[in-house]
Amino acid sequence: LTFTATDDGQQIAEINNAHAKASIALQGAHVMTFQPHGEAPVLWMSENTHPAPGKAIRGGIPVCWPWFGDHPDKAFPQHGFARVQLWRVIGSEALADGSTRVVFELQKNEAARAQWPYSCHLRCTVTVGKTLTVELATENLGEEAFTIGEALHTYLAVSDIEHIRVSGVEEAPYWDKVRDLRSVQNGAITFSGEFDRLFMNTSNDCVIDDAQFKRRIRIKKSGSSSTIVWNPWAEKSEKMGDMGKDGYRTMVCVESGNAMDNIVTLAPGETHKMHAIYSVEPL
Ligand code: BG6
Repeated sequence: LTFTATDDGQQIAEINNAHAKASIALQGAHVMTFQPHGEAPVLWMSENTHPAPGKAIRGGIPVCWPWFGDHPDKAFPQHGFARVQLWRVIGSEALADGSTRVVFELQKNEAARAQWPYSCHLRCTVTVGKTLTVELATENLGEEAFTIGEALHTYLAVSDIEHIRVSGVEEAPYWDKVRDLRSVQNGAITFSGEFDRLFMNTSNDCVIDDAQFKRRIRIKKSGSSSTIVWNPWAEKSEKMGDMGKDGYRTMVCVESGNAMDNIVTLAPGETHKMHAIYSVEPL
């Protein structure tokens, strides 16, 4: 584990072991890159973003926490503050199988406390090996219960959004944010325009079949009951400004989380853990 700093002083943890290389920004405990040796990058990163204080990185794995989507009163930015706060490394170890495990802890500052006044630990454990594992653990240290929404807002790299297929949420109830309606998913997902669905009560693996890249990305998860699938397409990307030219064509977000009907309530002393494992298989 080594640390490098970007031009504006952002700290990036770099891992390069027997299996893969990866980089993680201390702001957000944000996994930016993951690439098993001999394979193409698994995560998508915008060519038009770079770590800057207080700004979320467009690509990789932003951590949405302690709410997902709009703030309940719309008083604060969507997806919470964890992705733009500084975290610190509280442990790192080389595992027997050659993987590297790093544990990050959120440093809540005054601004974050003003947005969410509860006492807790938030830890993010990243294990880089042949596969990538990200675990988010929330511990209630206070004397009252609280509720969280959360997501590992993962941007996956694909050959061409119009030639991939996402499976694993068939039959799941969803809220479609583009059309603002609730329905139930019928079959696998293919893309031909803006797509933004929050699937509830989902625990199956999700897979992205990418015939052109001859690979399948698998996302196996636990402690997560929601899956969000998102692609902004051309018009929304243009408004967003940090997607890069035609960036939307080579990414899809398949996010493991707990949101809407699946938000999590933690009693005092309780810990909630969710994790996702990202792996690549030949297709
Ligand atoms: C997705 C939401 O998870 O995140 C989208 O479903 C949203 O509606 C997207 O646009 C990106 O959010 P942000 O805050 O990173 O621009």
